[in-house]
Amino acid sequence: MAYKIVSVVGARPNFMKVAAICEAIKEHNRQSNGDAIEHILVHTGQHYDANMSDFFFNDLELPKPNLFLGVGSGSHSAQTAKVMEGFENVLLSENPNVVIVVGDVNSTVGCALVTKKTRCVNGKDRTEFIPRLAHVEAGLRSFDRTMPEEVNRIVTDSISDFLFTTEESANINLEHEGVPKSKVHFVGNVMIDTLLRHHSKAKESTILNDLQLFEGAEVRPYAILTLHRPANVDDSQKFAGMLESFLEVSQQMPIIFPAHPRTLKQIQEADLGDYFVDHFLEGPEPWDFRVRIRLVPPLGYLDFLQLMSHARVVLTDSGGIQEETTILGVPCITLRENTERPVTLEHGTNVLVGSDPERIVKEFSRVLRDTTKPPAPPHFWDGNAAKRIVDILLQEHSPTHKMETTPWVDAAITESLRLPS
Ligand code: UD1
Repeated sequence: MAYKIVSVVGARPNFMKVAAICEAIKEHNRQSNGDAIEHILVHTGQHYDANMSDFFFNDLELPKPNLFLGVGSGSHSAQTAKVMEGFENVLLSENPNVVIVVGDVNSTVGCALVTKKTRCVNGKDRTEFIPRLAHVEAGLRSFDRTMPEEVNRIVTDSISDFLFTTEESANINLEHEGVPKSKVHFVGNVMIDTLLRHHSKAKESTILNDLQLFEGAEVRPYAILTLHRPANVDDSQKFAGMLESFLEVSQQMPIIFPAHPRTLKQIQEADLGDYFVDHFLEGPEPWDFRVRIRLVPPLGYLDFLQLMSHARVVLTDSGGIQEETTILGVPCITLRENTERPVTLEHGTNVLVGSDPERIVKEFSRVLRDTTKPPAPPHFWDGNAAKRIVDILLQEHSPTHKMETTPWVDAAITESLRLPS
């Protein structure tokens, strides 16, 4: 019987992570000696707009999902409940050996809970079993339990069988929570696998031209802004205060703002449109680059990667962008009071400023003056994380599976044993 893996995607930040896992499984199957993996990709449909979902499948060459649950939007409870109902049917019909969930969105926690509560049936001898649960990007903690993502992370980690971590802080957090070391595998960052894989392809994107960011042959200095956390956008007064600071900053260089649907809705409802130029409504007339923030729709993966690679600075409240800018060596100003990814702060490209307008303006000027070169990438952010994951899963399933004896495997194991006692 083939080893069967079900992987789950639901929301935008999942796609780039699972793309790396799909690629590693494909590569394993290409070289397999009779131990090919059967891989089922499930899309819960938490994100469903073309620019929040479909475009990513094209850009990342993700296979079409085998199953689509179509859960859509709703309150956290309603959305998670729909994910759970849909995913239970998937497990009962697919009977996988292992379920892989990534990140911290509602689809992650919903499918994790279902995995550990469903009795599947072995087709050969009809024995019952509970699938193994693998969490990719385990152990990250913001220590802020008002963030829905933090609750999702804690719950998912607490029931996972394989906890694949991206940075040393995650190993330490899991140890403090009493997770046995044997379950924790420090493998690196699958999102960085995908970034490294697509970096040269992203250069073909026309986004810099589309957004009039060339000045002759040179790219003019510009900043990117992304903002969607409820803590920043749901309170319109707080949001407006932040927009004042971005407006001030935009006197120094244009700000490109690919806006998330949640944020767009809030801009309309709170009547905050005057802060912005809508690029595609008011463009492509040459525009005054010194004033106002240029609003564009959410961008596809390759366009955004190209835009980020050339940015002078990124302002964001996203988790993943803090990591991507770390690898790209682009300064990142994080509009949050905490981060679950402290390695990005230690590395020096990322800084936390929260939502205070004065701090934002001050930090923006400081970052522009800073000329320090970022150090080498964090450990294991090297493009091989997904390969390590697949190898570890296969070895657990079949101890005779030969782990590749390339240095990275030995290093990964050594590293995961180097936890403080
Ligand atoms: C979710 C994740 C968050 C992640 C973010 C990235 C959770 C708890 N949160 O937040 O961690 O950083 O995705 O995008 O899972 N909407 C659309 N079209 C879509 C998707 C959403 O219009 O394709 C709108 C809907 O009005 C919805 C709102 O955006 O109510 C919020 O979407 P939802 O997926 O619930 O949470 P996000 O805020 O996107």
